[in-house]
Amino acid sequence: MAFTPENLARAREVVARYPRPKSAILPLAHLAQDQDGWLTRDAMAEIAQLTGVTAADVLGTCSFYTMFKRDPVGRLVVSVCTNATCLVTGGPEVLEHLEHRYADDPEVTVEEVECIAACGGAPAMQVNYEFHEKLTPDTAAEVVEAYRRGELEARTVSGSRR
Ligand code: FES
Repeated sequence: MAFTPENLARAREVVARYPRPKSAILPLAHLAQDQDGWLTRDAMAEIAQLTGVTAADVLGTCSFYTMFKRDPVGRLVVSVCTNATCLVTGGPEVLEHLEHRYADDPEVTVEEVECIAACGGAPAMQVNYEFHEKLTPDTAAEVVEAYRRGELEARTVSGSRR
C-alpha cells in the first residue's frame, strides 16, 4: 500500500469532500508527497484507485506541475529562477554556485525554474517554496545552510507547513 493507514483514512475523507472523486487527485498527491518526500508509482496507483481514474491519468495530472517530484529529492528543494529578470540580475550565477556546492549532497536538491513571480526581488529562489530574494551566490548558499542548521524552518517539499 502507498498510504499509511492514517493517511489512507485522511485520503478517503478528502475524496468524500468532492462531488466527483477525481477532483481529489491534487490534494491526494500533496498528501502522498508529504508522506514520502516524492510521488511514488505506488502512490499514483493508489490515488488512481481512490479517485476512480487510471494511474496514467494521475501521472498526466501530476506531471503538469513541477512541484510534484516523480523522483526522490532531498529534504531541501532549492528552486532557482533563471527567467528574464533573474537572468540579467545574476540568477544563473546563483544556480551554478548552488549546483556545484550541493552536487553530491543528498539532503539538498537544486533545480532551475521559470519565473516564480518574485521579479521585484530578483534574483530569487525558493527553498521548499519559501521565497528568498536579492541573492548573490554566497547569500543564497548562506540561506540554504541556515535551513540545514535549523535556523530557518523548512516546509515539506510540497510546500506544506508541518
Ligand atoms: S524572473 Fe525570476 S522571479 Fe520573475
